[in-house]
Amino acid sequence: MIEVQNVAYTYADGTKAVNDVSMTFPEQGIFAVMGLSGSGKTTLLNCIARFLSPQQGAILLDGQDIQDMKEVDFRQQVGVVFQHLNLFPHLNVLENMMLALERVQGRSKSEAKAEAMDILKRLNIGELAANYPAQVSGGQAQRVAIARGLALKPKFMLLDEPTSALDAATTSDFAQWLRELQEFTSFIIVTHDLPFAEQTADQGVFMAQGQVQEQGRLTEVLQNLDRC
Ligand SMILES: Nc1ncnc2c1ncn2[C@@H]1O[C@H](COP(=O)(O)OP(=O)(O)O)[C@@H](O)[C@H]1O
Ligand SMILES: [Mg+2]
Repeated sequence: MIEVQNVAYTYADGTKAVNDVSMTFPEQGIFAVMGLSGSGKTTLLNCIARFLSPQQGAILLDGQDIQDMKEVDFRQQVGVVFQHLNLFPHLNVLENMMLALERVQGRSKSEAKAEAMDILKRLNIGELAANYPAQVSGGQAQRVAIARGLALKPKFMLLDEPTSALDAATTSDFAQWLRELQEFTSFIIVTHDLPFAEQTADQGVFMAQGQVQEQGRLTEVLQNLDRC
């Protein structure tokens, strides 16, 4: 479980991007952090991913303050896929996957290769193994980036605007695919795409101006927004 407790983050120029936010991400399931552009979603995600240190509050992973965790322990438990996917362009899909296993988990090349291929097949994208990032579509690249993160078997995976480069049909397929991956990890999805959140997540929060405006079961959050 991840608990965000009264977290605030202010940028150096004085912008209060996250302002006293609390929320709990359960051990199982898909959780959406929604809100319009500029509402503080990415800043919050960067605090949860430990790329930014909040000036106020705490974030706990299974009861432990993430600031107190060793870097390697933390990175194995919490994976992140950014809006810009950061696949290495000079490595094919299989090699991109292997790199995470070799560098972070210290696996041998042959072990990493077998494991990476196994994961690609289990995620139904085995046919992409030999392709280079430039040879896969936006939707496929998104899946590969997630597969690479899942290779480390994180407890949580954070996704920032995963549908920003996808059209509506690809988004629906992608939502379905994510739902099938729930056995591998819990997802925290940051998105301004409410139809996608509705197709994917069970629970969520809606942020506005750095604060939580609504939270709860996804259907209820969206209904309450409609009423506002
Ligand atoms: N590096 C930064 N320096 C100053 N202000 C920033 C920075 N990054 C984001 N902001 C501001 O913080 C607020 C929240 O931004 P962000 O977390 O990116 O929101 P979202 O992901 O919901 O679009 C916005 O007002 C944005 O302009
Ligand atoms: Mg953002």
